[in-house]
Amino acid sequence: MSRKILKIGVLTSGGDAPGMNAAIRAVVRTATYHQLEVIGIRRGFKGILEQDFISLKPRDVGNIIQRGGTMLLTARSEDFKTPKGLKQAVCNLESAGIDAVIVIGGDGSMHGAAALEARSIRAVGIPATIDNDIQGTEICLGVDTCLNTIINAVDKLRDTALSHERIFVIEVMGNGSGYLAIEGAIAAGAESVIIPEMKWSIADIGNRVARGYQKGKKSHIILVSEGAAKADDVAKAIIKETGMEVRITVLGHVQRGGSPTVRDRNLGTRFGYEAVNCLVKNDTGNMVGILNNRLSYSPLSEITTSSQIDKKMYQAIQNILSV
Ligand code: F6P
Repeated sequence: MSRKILKIGVLTSGGDAPGMNAAIRAVVRTATYHQLEVIGIRRGFKGILEQDFISLKPRDVGNIIQRGGTMLLTARSEDFKTPKGLKQAVCNLESAGIDAVIVIGGDGSMHGAAALEARSIRAVGIPATIDNDIQGTEICLGVDTCLNTIINAVDKLRDTALSHERIFVIEVMGNGSGYLAIEGAIAAGAESVIIPEMKWSIADIGNRVARGYQKGKKSHIILVSEGAAKADDVAKAIIKETGMEVRITVLGHVQRGGSPTVRDRNLGTRFGYEAVNCLVKNDTGNMVGILNNRLSYSPLSEITTSSQIDKKMYQAIQNILSV
């Protein structure tokens, strides 16, 4: 029979994602309701090794639901992944009397949570990454806000592209996943999209550009996922192929910031609330998520990266919807 959970830690790890603060707020307030003591661990797993622990009470998480980033700070820790680091982390958590942790982050963070759960520290995961590349959930925290940032930028770039009748190559984040590029392309009405999961060629893009202008189009937007190619290289190849004027924009870290959308605030709140409910029920070792539009619970030990792209829409964007 496992020991009763009385004191919990909460941390954010890996790339920050809008909605992390909403999740932290929900964790602290739900845990307090259940008379659990909450410790905020700053800078993710690195903070466990450095014993950077702060007490969190409901008033400490006021006025954060509307803020991007993470009030707990975040980091990527290589030391934690070593056997020595992991042993030290467990020791530090035990010394602080922390029985369980809620880990908010991407797939690497879920692996960290699984490693703790496999030892004496109970763990529940909350998926948060703009890349939307985690198996066990259809949507991660931060994706919706990020996509809204992307389409706001693309809409603005479309204005200037149309005015100059130019081609724009816009590079978006996503690591090895083309999810942001595909969903952004659908919402922004982009003419072409380049993603790591699908084969593409400059000749095809050149043909689409030429066909578009022949049909009276005044601009051509190409969304390129960072995992597939660099905007600069794509632009140079298109200039060579078409002889037309091309401009590039790399959206970069602007995609990770900003006030979370309703969807991310509510998703973060739901995930935080449910993660604590799991701890209260002594039901740990899972990542909460959304599958088939319902809350889901997937074993942390089985979480891997996985592509969530809609391949059918990849074809549709380029051959039907943008012609
Ligand atoms: O995983 C989130 C992400 O924003 C990726 O899309 C991107 O490749 C990476 O993090 C950037 O990492 P950093 O902030 O360390 O430059």
